[in-house]
Amino acid sequence: MTREASSHVTVHEHYCVESGPEPCGVVIFGASGDLTQRKLIPALFRLYERELLPENFYILGCARTAMSDDAFRRKMRTSFATNDKMAAFLDHCFYLSGDYKEFSFYRELRSRLAKLTEAFRTGSNRVFYLATPPNLYTEITNHLSESQLTKEDDDGSWARVVIEKPFGRDLQSAVALNRELHKKLTESQIYRIDHYLGKETVQNILMLRFANAIFDPIWNRQYIDNVQITVAESIGVEHRAGYYEQSGLLRDMFQNHLMEILALVAMEPPASFAANCVRDEKTKLLRAIRPLVEDRRGDNLVRAQYEGGRIDGETVVAYRQEADVAADSMVETFVAANLVIDNWRWQGVPFYLRSGKRLPRKVSEVAITFKKVPHSIFTPLMPDVLPANVMLLNLQPDEGIGLTIQAKKPGPKLCMASLAMDFNYREIFGTDSMPDAYERLLLDCMLGDQTLFVREDSMQLAWSLLTPLLQRWEGSGNSPPLCFYAAGSWGPQEAIALLQRQGRNWYTQ
Ligand code: BG6
Repeated sequence: MTREASSHVTVHEHYCVESGPEPCGVVIFGASGDLTQRKLIPALFRLYERELLPENFYILGCARTAMSDDAFRRKMRTSFATNDKMAAFLDHCFYLSGDYKEFSFYRELRSRLAKLTEAFRTGSNRVFYLATPPNLYTEITNHLSESQLTKEDDDGSWARVVIEKPFGRDLQSAVALNRELHKKLTESQIYRIDHYLGKETVQNILMLRFANAIFDPIWNRQYIDNVQITVAESIGVEHRAGYYEQSGLLRDMFQNHLMEILALVAMEPPASFAANCVRDEKTKLLRAIRPLVEDRRGDNLVRAQYEGGRIDGETVVAYRQEADVAADSMVETFVAANLVIDNWRWQGVPFYLRSGKRLPRKVSEVAITFKKVPHSIFTPLMPDVLPANVMLLNLQPDEGIGLTIQAKKPGPKLCMASLAMDFNYREIFGTDSMPDAYERLLLDCMLGDQTLFVREDSMQLAWSLLTPLLQRWEGSGNSPPLCFYAAGSWGPQEAIALLQRQGRNWYTQ
């Protein structure tokens, strides 16, 4: 199909297919929590609206709080706009309260599931979504397994367990958690979520790279000068200090979201889009990252914490003054790093990654700066002043792709201008085309497609790169100092200097 998507972009749709899953039940642990109400139920409802849920399905929310099915439905109803499909959707939603640590809860769960299975004719296909504190993951999985609820039968019925982040807090705990889960589940039953992988634009990195033959020949050290990945947020720690004081930015954003984006941008072409082909290539790439060595000058890594400042005209307090944050907290809210990938494609190309809270605005993007022209024929313009081409992958909020090119500006013979070719997804495909990441991921889990979920080996590789840093920061050893930056700035001076010492600047500043 061909259509005029905007005044200057024509879209030819070649192939668009979405399959629906088999009948199944979705059991959510942590159903009275924020994630369920804000993300999971709205995502399931959107799938239902778009007729992507199977006809036979049910949702069972579980939590400690006592609540009737009706009270649960009323609570969930507040999380999405009312429409004529809502009542029918809510008829599929149920609730069970109890203590996850008690065996009696699983007895009740079993009998409830038997009834729902019969009423909705779903067979025993089930997704168990663990939206609980991480210290409950093993316990819940053990109980589910002992109650025979994660058993997969020869008739093809399946049971899958979705695990939210944080998955461990360092290499050792991630390995231990994987080991415990594997006592009861096979790897094909474990769906480790990184919601960034469900974002449309993050998935598009693969389509851009591997559905266009023109990019791969230049996607390497011969043509690319450097790659920058920025995941910036203007919000502070909000009400999550209890978690964040134990986590910090490296665990919260780097170990998962930034490393996943890096792997998709830099990996080799997989042989197919099958889950393990893609995941093999991501793992190979993570394995090629050189261990990070910190020095006092901050040549490779800078960690920092926000001080008070102004964002969007509002005065905001320092991290140390946020509710429930220790007055002398050393937790980092910003990290910038220079990563080196030791393989043929990327030797000598720096990958600069940065992420922080209380930066000027929310933006996630990948900026790929190509090399400058080797020689300028447009004297007196020297090669140095001819700007390099930059390809920008805008992951959010202005989802799209851009490319800067130099062009002749009408006028005097030597009149040059940089033009930006921008494709904005929302303008081209319409706002509704940007489903929430959880929709994609929940649907994929029901379909049994693990491509966008994190496999054990790459999860552990990401931890093994970062754990030595965490140990130094948290131990009594001699680690480089924590820096500070004003809220509303693009991070500390040291992060700017990290690039400037290498003759570069951050693309967004
Ligand atoms: C989460 C982090 O994984 O991602 C949060 O725990 C962060 O600290 C959030 O705010 C950002 O996600 P998004 O989708 O808003 O970019």
